[in-house]
Amino acid sequence: MALSRPYYITALLTLCACSMAAPAVLAANVPVTTCRSFCGNITVDYPFALRSGCGHAGLRDLLFCINRVLMLHLPSGSYRVLNIDYAYQGLTLHDPAMSDCRALDRSRSGRGNGFVLEPWRATFLAPDPDNVFLLLGCRANSPLFQGFPDRPHLTCRNNVSGMGCGDYYGCPAWDDYGQRPSGSAYGLAVPPECCAMPWDAIRAVNVSRLQCEGYSSAYSLAPVRTSEGARGWTYGIRVAWQLPEANRGFCGACLATGGVCGHDRDSHADLCLCGDWNSTSNCDSSTDAATSSAAAITGVLFSAVLASGLSSLWW
Ligand SMILES: *[C@@H]1O[C@H](CO)[C@@H](O)[C@H](O)[C@H]1NC(C)=O
Ligand SMILES: *[C@@H]1O[C@H](CO)[C@@H](O)[C@H](O)[C@H]1NC(C)=O
Ligand SMILES: *[C@@H]1O[C@H](CO)[C@@H](O)[C@H](O)[C@H]1NC(C)=O
Ligand SMILES: *[C@@H]1O[C@H](CO)[C@@H](O)[C@H](O)[C@H]1NC(C)=O
Repeated sequence: MALSRPYYITALLTLCACSMAAPAVLAANVPVTTCRSFCGNITVDYPFALRSGCGHAGLRDLLFCINRVLMLHLPSGSYRVLNIDYAYQGLTLHDPAMSDCRALDRSRSGRGNGFVLEPWRATFLAPDPDNVFLLLGCRANSPLFQGFPDRPHLTCRNNVSGMGCGDYYGCPAWDDYGQRPSGSAYGLAVPPECCAMPWDAIRAVNVSRLQCEGYSSAYSLAPVRTSEGARGWTYGIRVAWQLPEANRGFCGACLATGGVCGHDRDSHADLCLCGDWNSTSNCDSSTDAATSSAAAITGVLFSAVLASGLSSLWW
């Protein structure tokens, strides 16, 4: 004879209770190390990640940890990440082939990565407005002075957040260069030795395309102390990141329900990682489970068991 009805009902209720409670129990236990990691002494955490599916999709395929050195890869090249400032949403990059106050790094074909982003990434990542790009030794027929196919020529600035070529000419780097340039700005027949630009004006620093010999980049987080001139600047590329406004609420709710924020590898949509399942909202909403083949099979099996159990109750 088959199992008695009371036993069947108890078994069914237990099955139902376990299946419904399971996501909530697991949700509270997702370890932060699912996505947080370290590279050397730098913490890599949301919105950045070293693991695929972690972090925000706008910053995917960006950071790599190579021999305990954190590297950032862009179409223009690889940069060493010196620090990630989560509070101020900025990271500091170093390009070894960049000029600074101590040494100029120039060649006719152009030295250094410059800074060029994938167009889709530009809404998420961009050099800080307080970062100055100093383009060095650009030829007179550079698009910088002649204009670009889609826009007119640019005007070199003499002051980007208090930094400019005039002060940069005071650096010891120019001692070996022979003649120290004067602070004369663009507008004369001869192109200037140095042209200062904020990111918003130039939007792509491709040293060879701009027909420059090299570049430098500096930033100021605090107001620049004028007494030190360019010696007091911090050399490197200061980059800021920005996420869509809706992400703050999504990620906050995901964390509050014990999940870890990530994204879908294929659709790039926000995803809350809830342990052995993923949610398109948060770990308390099992109805928002992101569909994956594994989850779908479990659902079908569960329905089959439930259906057979219910049908035997009626017979
Ligand atoms: C990491 O270590 C380097 C030296 O290896 C040091 O210069 C830097 O300040 C450290 N960064 C942090 C965030 O501790
Ligand atoms: C949840 O999403 C993450 C990141 O996309 C993925 O690695 C993981 O396999 C997914 N888990 C399930 C159960 O689909
Ligand atoms: C930079 O410009 C050169 C020459 O125009 C081009 O071949 C190269 O693809 C550009 N690099 C990037 C990252 O856009
Ligand atoms: C740069 O401009 C700021 C305001 O825009 C001004 O306060 C500062 O004195 C200027 N610095 C130089 C070196 O011209």
